[in-house]
Amino acid sequence: QADTVIAPSLLAADFARLAEAADAVEGSVDWLHVDVMDNHFVPNLTLGPPIVKSLKAATDIPLDCHLMIEDPKRWAPGYAELGAYNVTFHAEAADDPVRLAKDLRAAGSKAGLAIDRDTPVEDYLEILPAFDTLLIMTIKAGFGGQKFMPELLAKVRTARAHADSGHLELRIEVDGGIADDTIAAAAEAGADAFVAGTAVYGAADPADAARRLRARADA
Ligand code: DX5
Ligand code: ZN
Repeated sequence: QADTVIAPSLLAADFARLAEAADAVEGSVDWLHVDVMDNHFVPNLTLGPPIVKSLKAATDIPLDCHLMIEDPKRWAPGYAELGAYNVTFHAEAADDPVRLAKDLRAAGSKAGLAIDRDTPVEDYLEILPAFDTLLIMTIKAGFGGQKFMPELLAKVRTARAHADSGHLELRIEVDGGIADDTIAAAAEAGADAFVAGTAVYGAADPADAARRLRARADA
């Protein structure tokens, strides 16, 4: 696993051509970020298990499933069973996040915890040892193409300090508005996994855009 993880978000790709979108970045990225939205946890609707199953068959890029859904206890393990590399659910939607992390690992995936714009990271520091990934939204979850909110990087700094002092093996992933002009600040704050939708799939050459993002994160 590379030190810096670049994870293009398919939310910004053509949903009728997802396999082509995966092929376009294969070899240049580490994970493929799959935004699952249920029109309840967020006011937007995207895709679910059948499409994740097809994606799994269509690409070798590890799938990073970001579940913006209610009742993750019911649905999240299914994504692990379909072969997702990492399954991240939202803290705001989970009643027993540690239990669900265990279930995800038992089902064969890594476990991720996501916190939305208005959720303090302090409330979750104690349970981070149960997780492989902490996803810190740098926008309000729900839609691509929003403006990066630099003030949310304070949460990344807090989480990074906590993870380092506790020697946790934790990826800290940022999601929302990550682009050429914002990724360095996120990396400096301590993030090591970077979701980018518009910045990758809105570019003429997605693979080149992803490589440029990595260079800026590593600079
Ligand atoms: C939004 C999703 C993001 C989205 C980011 O709730 O979680 O993954 O695709 O899109 P950009 O990179 O365009 O902000
Ligand atoms: Zn996402």
